[in-house]
Amino acid sequence: MEKVRARNNGKKSEKTIMFQKMYNHFLHVAPKYRELRTTDLGPILFITNKLQDLPSIRAADIGCGAGRYGLKLVEHLGEKCYLYCIDNNIAMLKQLKTHFTNHNIVNFIPIRSDSHKIPIQTDSLDCVMTLNAIHHFSLPHFLKEASRVLKNNGRLFIYTRLRDQNARTIWGMHFPDFHKREKRLYELDHLKSMFEKDPNLNLDSIKIFEHHRVFPLERLIEQARNHHYSTFKLYGKKQFLEAMHKFERNILRHYEDLDRITWKEENTLLVVKNIQDDYFSA
Ligand SMILES: C[S@@+](CC[C@H](N)C(=O)[O-])C[C@H]1O[C@@H](n2cnc3c(N)ncnc32)[C@H](O)[C@@H]1O
Repeated sequence: MEKVRARNNGKKSEKTIMFQKMYNHFLHVAPKYRELRTTDLGPILFITNKLQDLPSIRAADIGCGAGRYGLKLVEHLGEKCYLYCIDNNIAMLKQLKTHFTNHNIVNFIPIRSDSHKIPIQTDSLDCVMTLNAIHHFSLPHFLKEASRVLKNNGRLFIYTRLRDQNARTIWGMHFPDFHKREKRLYELDHLKSMFEKDPNLNLDSIKIFEHHRVFPLERLIEQARNHHYSTFKLYGKKQFLEAMHKFERNILRHYEDLDRITWKEENTLLVVKNIQDDYFSA
């Protein structure tokens, strides 16, 4: 970090500023995070279905946040699963620990670490999953690390909103500039090309999840005010307030029943197999 600053004549680089902004955002939102977001069981049922035949499962949830998906994974797989919960944010991990403990789950360990430096032995995991988080990572470094920690034939599950899927959410459609400001999300072709660069990572399947949402306007306003998506941190304070007003006006124009704002949301789950070419030849 200091080296980067020296190169920039003492000024913080844009990357550093963004990293700190996001870190502070997640520190702030951690206590409310699970309650603010909508948790969908679909991706977890899909993942557990792929893993359930294994006699024991060592898995990692990278960018695990406050543990809403990790908990569901462990609850579905039971005691044969051991979960490493990895996040760089201390406040998120604190929430996760309380959440798991309150549900009497003991087969997990919270680890504070970066997605590109996973403190787990090489060739040791059956599953690496990451939900709603890859757009925060340095993706090439994360993929390299995921490939390192996965066993031969281990699976990497990436659950994300693609850029075009983001445009079709209630926020993408009606919150001014939401889609344009959120440049961190990936297009499918871009993701595919990243796997092609790694000889061990083989794209196995792609599953699109459709979620039919019905929310009262009040709940949407509560979510946005509390910045349930980090995209809202990409607005200045004044810009955000103006955009909120416009969003409300747009909703009033487009929907009659403000207790039942409906739309369809989509997410993509990529299943990637770690196949080590040198495994048999070694
Ligand atoms: C949008 S939240 C998603 C959390 C969780 N997966 C969920 O769906 O509820 C992204 C999470 O990634 C974490 N994160 C961001 N950048 C990270 C990095 N470089 N390494 C590890 N975790 C990171 C954040 O602290 C945050 O908890």
